[in-house]
Amino acid sequence: MAALVTGVAGFIGFHVAHALAARGEAVIGIDSMQRSHNPALTEGRRKALAGIEGFTFAQVDVADAGAMERLFKEHPDIDRIVHLAGQAGVRYSVENPYIYLRNNIEAFVVLLETCRALPALKHLAYASSSSVYGANAKLPFSIEDRTDSPVSLYGATKKAMEVIGHSHARMYGLRLSGLRFFTVYGPWGRPDMAAYMFTEKIIAGTPIQVYNRGEMRRDFTYIDDIVAGILGCLDRPPAAGVHRVYNLGNNRSEDLTDFIAAIERAAGRKAIVEYLPMQPGDMTETYADIEASRRDFGFAPQIGIGEGMARFVAWYRDYYRL
Ligand SMILES: NC(=O)c1ccc[n+]([C@@H]2O[C@H](COP(=O)([O-])OP(=O)(O)OC[C@H]3O[C@@H](n4cnc5c(N)ncnc54)[C@H](O)[C@@H]3O)[C@@H](O)[C@H]2O)c1
Repeated sequence: MAALVTGVAGFIGFHVAHALAARGEAVIGIDSMQRSHNPALTEGRRKALAGIEGFTFAQVDVADAGAMERLFKEHPDIDRIVHLAGQAGVRYSVENPYIYLRNNIEAFVVLLETCRALPALKHLAYASSSSVYGANAKLPFSIEDRTDSPVSLYGATKKAMEVIGHSHARMYGLRLSGLRFFTVYGPWGRPDMAAYMFTEKIIAGTPIQVYNRGEMRRDFTYIDDIVAGILGCLDRPPAAGVHRVYNLGNNRSEDLTDFIAAIERAAGRKAIVEYLPMQPGDMTETYADIEASRRDFGFAPQIGIGEGMARFVAWYRDYYRL
């Protein structure tokens, strides 16, 4: 039996593939290797995965139905799928809307249609996002809350995936779990996200851009906690025909200024801050209620921003030999 990880050359996919292989599983990883924010880092992740015992890579676009059919014919032993391929990022969706339809909605429909040919499929867990909560005022965000008013196209495509997941699970007896990640950071993290951008600029001594005068709060979640949550969920599939959603967040809402201070401590340098207005599509606060994830698969995040950013900055210095 084997697990398929889509988006394996991406930040979260890379770590999930490592963790599955480390517990002795056969892992098939696919990625379209599209030109992303930092192609060199995506390529670096792919290279770092090559040679891992039990791991196989294929360059496949999930939105390509023919390629996915061929993949599943070649690997009928795939019994679990972690679908992390997608177009991430709120701000990029303002400038490049159409790619979100293709890589989030279209790719997901192709995956749901083609995976039905897998004889042994037990569970498909996929990446949703805290962005589905939009401008909800009630905190922390609970999976019981309404999520039909996202404030970005990115959030809307993630919500669309959840709705499509629900209908496909019912129609075809699939077992699906949508995981709403909350601002994930850590080694090999995305260069378009705050943890990476702020670290890069603070170390280089150039100004960091802080939106809404820093009056923002985020539930920052360390990558190891996210991976533990994904695997915990994957190991406990729902009944046939059931689609569930879960929050995977740290369950703490941090001031952006405290997050910057944690980076300053880890980097040993002060930030030069340039304040900018609120960006379109941004949320002022995120905060995860993780009760259901705790109850159903024992999710218990361990790493706070002090320890997490110290680990990130250490990785950053080591990776770029600074
Ligand atoms: N990182 C976060 O904080 C965060 C938060 C909420 C949700 N998410 C979601 O989690 C998932 C993984 O996020 P990430 O941070 O690892 O992003 P990432 O950009 O690092 O990784 C995504 C990977 O998917 C690949 N990809 C994109 N479209 C594809 C396609 N059609 N076929 C095959 N591969 C494709 C990209 O090449 C990339 O390597 C995404 O769906 C993202 O929206 C991430």
